[in-house]
Amino acid sequence: MVKLIGVNKINTSVFISGNGTNLQNLIKFSKTYNSPIKINIVISNKKNAYGIKYAKKNKIKIQIIDFSKKSEINRLLKILKFNNIKLICLAGFLRILSKYFIKSFKGKIINIHPSLLPKYKGLNTHERVLKKNEKFTGCTVHFVNEKLDGGKIILQKKIKIFKKDNVKSLKNRVLKEEYKLYPKSIIKILSNY
Ligand code: GAR
Repeated sequence: MVKLIGVNKINTSVFISGNGTNLQNLIKFSKTYNSPIKINIVISNKKNAYGIKYAKKNKIKIQIIDFSKKSEINRLLKILKFNNIKLICLAGFLRILSKYFIKSFKGKIINIHPSLLPKYKGLNTHERVLKKNEKFTGCTVHFVNEKLDGGKIILQKKIKIFKKDNVKSLKNRVLKEEYKLYPKSIIKILSNY
């Protein structure tokens, strides 16, 4: 594996909508010696997203973008270009990106989803998994294309569902796996960069 350190790290933007614990984890990862990424800017579609505090704490730039407006998308594209962003990590970003935006960053946007894709695309994953009495669940990191949670899978982690599991316990157990899987996936796609 190629080790990218300091100035050689890939400029990355993380998009969030809520809690931002994956963002917090990615910031921590980005500061390690083995990380091929540097997080230059955090994008949120919500001005009150709790996760913004992690960006502030780490002195990372933040931009709030209204994704329903084309002018805002164009402003975002300019910001990303200005910051020379080569990778976009969606981390609990709960908006569907437009085809126009995805086309501008083709093959450079990745997402983490709390299920064993292609099963349980979309929202409220853990509720639906439990309702169906599934024996296993997990998380997936994948490339983003025009289809919801439909791009090529990079890595996936499977975990067993226990009888005593509820939405909260499952969410927490899956999140713990997400924190390992996202950095691993980034290393996987960038190791030959
Ligand atoms: C994570 O479980 C992530 O996989 C999920 O939202 C949560 C965000 O947590 N993403 C999706 O459901 C995307 N469809 P976080 O804000 O604490 O990182």
